[in-house]
Amino acid sequence: MKLSSIFVAAACFLASASAVPIQSRGQGTRAGKWFDRVITIVMENKNYKDVIADPFFSTITSKYNARLLTNYNAPFHPSQPNYLGMITGGRDAWTDLNVDVNRKNLVDLLEAGGVSWKTYQENYPGNCFAGDSQDKLYRRKHNPFISMNNIRNDPSRCANIVDSSQLEVDIAAGTAPQYIFYTPNMDNDGHDTPLSFSSDWAKGFFQKLFQNTSFLRNTLIVFTWDEQESYLSLQNKVATYLIGDVVNTASAGKTDETNYSHYSLLRTIEDNWNLGNLGREDTKAVVFKGLNKPQI
Ligand SMILES: *[C@@H]1O[C@H](CO)[C@@H](O)[C@H](O)[C@H]1NC(C)=O
Ligand SMILES: *[C@@H]1O[C@H](CO)[C@@H](O)[C@H](O)[C@H]1NC(C)=O
Repeated sequence: MKLSSIFVAAACFLASASAVPIQSRGQGTRAGKWFDRVITIVMENKNYKDVIADPFFSTITSKYNARLLTNYNAPFHPSQPNYLGMITGGRDAWTDLNVDVNRKNLVDLLEAGGVSWKTYQENYPGNCFAGDSQDKLYRRKHNPFISMNNIRNDPSRCANIVDSSQLEVDIAAGTAPQYIFYTPNMDNDGHDTPLSFSSDWAKGFFQKLFQNTSFLRNTLIVFTWDEQESYLSLQNKVATYLIGDVVNTASAGKTDETNYSHYSLLRTIEDNWNLGNLGREDTKAVVFKGLNKPQI
């Protein structure tokens, strides 16, 4: 037996011996191709070049197992169509005004595929609140789920839109879902504050999240911005970080210059769980490269 095949055999043995049963990871039992859980966090309105120069954001790829996507482009201005597009695969709004969208979306695919989901929205008042704003901190334009008719009008689905304080509770109880969409409030996401305020918030958020490595096992964290700040450019480039144990930096590096978009995020989730697609821009979108579950 060649030395290399002994290594392969040993790696396979360790992988199968240490595999954590997916059932022990809370609601939702579908193992994914590249990850078993995805946490999307969406920040607001900052230019790529400013984000990558920020004292905290610039350290993400060294502090964490992470990759910076250096050519990730948002499809739209202003905010709302970007958020909607992340779960519908196309344009469903032209402005930030409330819209009611009657369309198949990612939640339909997740539920049909047996993948649990929930969205954690900072300062969300709960009870299927469909208003535009709460305390000027929660805004409906950053919560695409409530704009879907088939979520807003279905009490059991709508109950999966919760205030962000529930995340800690769900993690501790082992009931956090496999698909998590997290929207920070209008201060924490940088919408109404300078970049430094949002980066201080993110630093604290990550410190807390990374305390629980068992929760983060086989998890992809996608940390992105909805759109760039400047409207006066043809490109709408945002910083996006892929973070977590499933990001294979050893073989695929800490940066990736592939031309991705919010539709790539959608497509990656669809393909990870073999969910099919929504028949829109997601069918053409490029899947994130360099992801796999760690072997040990
Ligand atoms: C860490 O996460 C696991 C899985 O969600 C959970 O069972 C455990 O209670 C969490 N630990 C703490 C300290 O929250
Ligand atoms: C990236 O792809 C989009 C959509 O296919 C295209 O419109 C855009 O010109 C590309 N941008 C770059 C910088 O390659």
